Amino acid sequence: MLEINELTHRYGDQTVLAGLNLKVAQGELVSLVGPSGCGKSTLLRCVAGLIRPTGGQIVLNGNPIDGVPDDLAVVFQDYSRSLFPWLSVRDNVALPLRRKGKGRSARRAAAQEALESVGLGDAGRKFPWQLSGGMQQRVSIARALAYRPSLLLMDEPFGSVDAQTREDLEDLVLRVHRDGGMTILLVTHDIDESVYVGDRVVVLARNPGRVRAELPVGLPSARDQIETRGLPEFVRLRAEVGRLVRGSATGDGAAAGSPAGGTTGSLRKDDWHD
Ligand SMILES: Nc1ncnc2c1ncn2[C@@H]1O[C@H](COP(=O)(O)OP(=O)(O)O)[C@@H](O)[C@H]1O
Ligand SMILES: [Mg+2]
Repeated sequence: MLEINELTHRYGDQTVLAGLNLKVAQGELVSLVGPSGCGKSTLLRCVAGLIRPTGGQIVLNGNPIDGVPDDLAVVFQDYSRSLFPWLSVRDNVALPLRRKGKGRSARRAAAQEALESVGLGDAGRKFPWQLSGGMQQRVSIARALAYRPSLLLMDEPFGSVDAQTREDLEDLVLRVHRDGGMTILLVTHDIDESVYVGDRVVVLARNPGRVRAELPVGLPSARDQIETRGLPEFVRLRAEVGRLVRGSATGDGAAAGSPAGGTTGSLRKDDWHD
């Protein structure tokens, strides 16, 4: 469903991605790991059609990406810039559903259901700035889930939540992936997480960013936070991914932020509220 061919991207004279190739099958959950600064966020932004790569091609369902694809949702690394502060939590979640042509009550119901799935069923009337960072990130996740995209891109989505919530959200992503057949590309710097949620782990190398290794995850598809992490295959994979990531961390690339996200179409301000 997604094919990335010889992708190259430069910022000025810095080559961030060079000749990156990756294929993702329909319904697959691919974890992307790699040292900070290797171009993970840049790669996702290229796939999301938010930046035009310097070279190479990205093909989604047979069509080269040119602009933001319709059937795609993104959870950005920087949650603080991804929600609209003047919209209630529920309106933030409901807004993208307009692109799907859903009526108002269907949008509200879908938003509420998604908020409940991330444990924020009571927060719909609040505004993003009234919530903690971790709660805001869960709102962005709810927004993406409510949209039910065929391709979901997640950039370190659980970076700002506590350990217990993180495990719950990992399991939620596994559940929607299994039930909804969504294709998911999930960037994480947590090696255990990459193995726990992934059907496949793709390790990127730095300077310039490219695929260093791809490891199929031979774990049973039903995952359990305690049992799965104790399996010999899990222990073997996390060690191997860890070695590959450390071996990729040469040079001193720096971490970078992400742009504010979300497509809003051409709505006027008063049109946004549900
Ligand atoms: N908008 C930008 N302008 C210039 N350089 C950027 C920009 N975004 C990222 N970079 C640089 O590109 C490299 C890769 O960044 P990024 O894709 O954010 O990596 P990662 O997500 O793997 O940490 C870093 O060296 C970063 O400083
Ligand atoms: Mg990043």
